[in-house]
Amino acid sequence: MIHVLFVCLGNICRSPMAEAVLRHKIEERGLNHQIQVDSAGTGDWHISKPPHEGTRNLLDTYQIPYANMAARQFGSADFEQFDYIVCMDDSNVANVRKIAGGAEADILKFMDLLPNESLREVPDPYFTGNFEEVYGLVDAGCNVLLERIQKDHSLA
Ligand code: 4NP
Repeated sequence: MIHVLFVCLGNICRSPMAEAVLRHKIEERGLNHQIQVDSAGTGDWHISKPPHEGTRNLLDTYQIPYANMAARQFGSADFEQFDYIVCMDDSNVANVRKIAGGAEADILKFMDLLPNESLREVPDPYFTGNFEEVYGLVDAGCNVLLERIQKDHSLA
């Protein structure tokens, strides 16, 4: 099993959206027995809360399931479990690296999946209110990530 973890700050807006979108794509391609997805936040304010209403509205619009999702905090044990740790912005990368304490970890920045986009971080809709913009980036980036995982692991 291949394990993918999306990381943002609160684990209620961006990373749960990416988790739900990627899981949906995985199921559409029949790869759910090969790839598992989760998400976490570097902060602890929203632990156990469901995704933010703005994220839920977008997922409802695109008919993407998000049942039983609850926020949790990123921790050092996640380095052992996850093959891909995909951070939504630069501060998430810095915080995850701090927790890694110099350990070799495969930490990706989400916007590095979309090198032609001028934005280099996924904007935080908790502050911008623009969940639609995030959905567009998340949808495009998840297509690239899934292609990469399929190629890395020779999955049809
Ligand atoms: P997220 O957005 O990192 O995309 O889940 C945020 C959610 C909550 C807070 C910040 C960002 N907060 O400060 O509570």
